[in-house]
Amino acid sequence: MNAANLQKAQELVHRFPKKSSALIPILHLVEDEFGYIPEAEVQTVADVMGVTPAYVESVLTFYTLFHRQPTGKYLVQVCRGLSCQLNGADELSHFLHDELGVQRNGTTDDGLFTVEEVECIALCKDAPAVQINLEFYPRMTKEQLKAFLDQAAKEVTSGA
Ligand code: FES
Repeated sequence: MNAANLQKAQELVHRFPKKSSALIPILHLVEDEFGYIPEAEVQTVADVMGVTPAYVESVLTFYTLFHRQPTGKYLVQVCRGLSCQLNGADELSHFLHDELGVQRNGTTDDGLFTVEEVECIALCKDAPAVQINLEFYPRMTKEQLKAFLDQAAKEVTSGA
C-alpha cells in the first residue's frame, strides 16, 4: 500500500468499535490502488489489522468482488442474476467473449478488457444490466457493448 492508503487503513482500524469491521474497507483501498489484491498486500493488511494472513485470505475467498489477479483497464461485468438471465444476459456474455476472444472471466492479451459474470447488481428492473468499472449500464444491448469496445480501443490507440 502507498503511504496515504496505509495511513487511511490505520485510521479505519480505530474508527470501528470492532476492529474486524475495518477489513472490507481496507481491502477496498488495496483493490482501488492496485486493481486487485496482490499476495504481498495480504500480509500488509493482516499487520495493520492485527490478524493472521489466513484470516484475510478467508475473507477474500468469501467475497468474490475482490480480485486476486490483475484485471484489464476496463472491467466489464455482466449480471447473471435471474432478471438479467431472462432478458438476454447470456447473449451479452457470449457476444463479449466472442468479440474479445476471451474465456469466461478472462482478460484480453493486451490487458485492455476483463469480462466477468457477476451476481445481481441491483438494476433488475432495467435488465440486462452491465457494470463497466464503476459505471452502471441498464438495458444493455450488444450494439451498445460493441460501441463501447470500439470507443475504448480507439481511445487507447490514440493515447487519450
Ligand atoms: S438480476 Fe441483474 S441486476 Fe438484478
